[in-house]
Amino acid sequence: MKLLTVIGARPQFIKAATVSRAVAGRDDVNEVIVHTGQHYDANMSDVFFEELSIPKPNYHLGIGGGSHGKMTGRQMEEIESVLLKESPDVVLVYGDTNSTLAGALAAVKLHIPVAHVEAGLRSFNKKMPEEINRILTDHASTSLFAPTQTAIKNLSSEGICGDHVQMVGDVMYDAALFYRDRARKPSWFEELPISENEFVLATIHRAENTDNPQRFAAIFAGLAQSEKSIVLPLHPRTRARLKDHGIQPSDNMHIVDPVGYLEMVWLEAHCALVATDSGGVQKEAYFHGKPCITLRDETEWVELVEIGANVLVGAQFDAITSLLKNPRGSRATENLRRR
Ligand code: UD1
Ligand code: UDP
Repeated sequence: MKLLTVIGARPQFIKAATVSRAVAGRDDVNEVIVHTGQHYDANMSDVFFEELSIPKPNYHLGIGGGSHGKMTGRQMEEIESVLLKESPDVVLVYGDTNSTLAGALAAVKLHIPVAHVEAGLRSFNKKMPEEINRILTDHASTSLFAPTQTAIKNLSSEGICGDHVQMVGDVMYDAALFYRDRARKPSWFEELPISENEFVLATIHRAENTDNPQRFAAIFAGLAQSEKSIVLPLHPRTRARLKDHGIQPSDNMHIVDPVGYLEMVWLEAHCALVATDSGGVQKEAYFHGKPCITLRDETEWVELVEIGANVLVGAQFDAITSLLKNPRGSRATENLRRR
């Protein structure tokens, strides 16, 4: 079987590392990897291929940046050309980025079956570009690999059910288990005036936060109140917005460039708590036994909120400051190391 995988953004590289490793062990599957180029900085792309031993992409389309329509349209056009040349049996896409949608639409219009890993997740907020990408990808897919029972229920309520929908669990959990013993302390950590297990690990990159000046300012003002130091590996979009919105990071914030996954896992395993608007990082906080406050108004990973391991604080200054002081959830988290 020829499997053509479309990836393009940071979390997809981490998911693909796990699946591509499994695929490489099979003689009956030949994988062709297409990198759309959605993420292109070395620390947003190359680092993951190198340290997670992801096979070098067979095609690199070099299409990143620009508006949603432009990026998705250009990616679709180029993916279509690759599909016509390669004639794969299945196209595999992950998650909910523009690269996911471009891969799914290009394939389904050529009547090539689409397999979607992380099917069925919903935030029920259609203003999020990711929500549109997920819904359309699920409805274009032939095989839907759902990570949770909630995802299965969401699909069912949209009329998608049957043997082609399967609950397979979360590939990011596989990644967390596989790479936890390979985690690496960042070289700059010792130079910072912070101690292990005493700092807040924060990530911010969602458009709804970075592109809304009020939300953006409230989040940074809330984080500035933290008694603990904050380590903030900053997505390039967020770094640009700090400048655009004229926000000066406070003295308790240590802003660093995005880190590779192995360093990220170390930071997650050695922080006191996590504050994030990332989908993946919310779950990894739980996998590594750390409480999480999520800087969003809703989440697709509702299970962690239900058990109290994760608290949604949106961009509310009061909630952020109070939970940074007295985090909830540490007892609700299940420590990976106990396994
Ligand atoms: C994208 C996904 C989001 C995912 C995130 C993972 C969509 C709609 N969004 O958001 O679901 O959570 O990736 O990180 O697909 N940039 C750089 N260098 C890079 C990458 C991006 O400078 O290597 C800058 C560019 O100015 C770019 C901006 O960041 O325009 C936003 O990048 P984009 O890929 O559009 O969205 P993300 O916020 O990364
Ligand atoms: N991540 C990383 N380095 C960073 C920030 C995040 O390796 O500097 C990893 C993180 O551990 C998780 C994934 O990237 O596995 C999450 O990606 P991101 O937050 O960009 O996207 P989302 O999950 O929100 O779609």
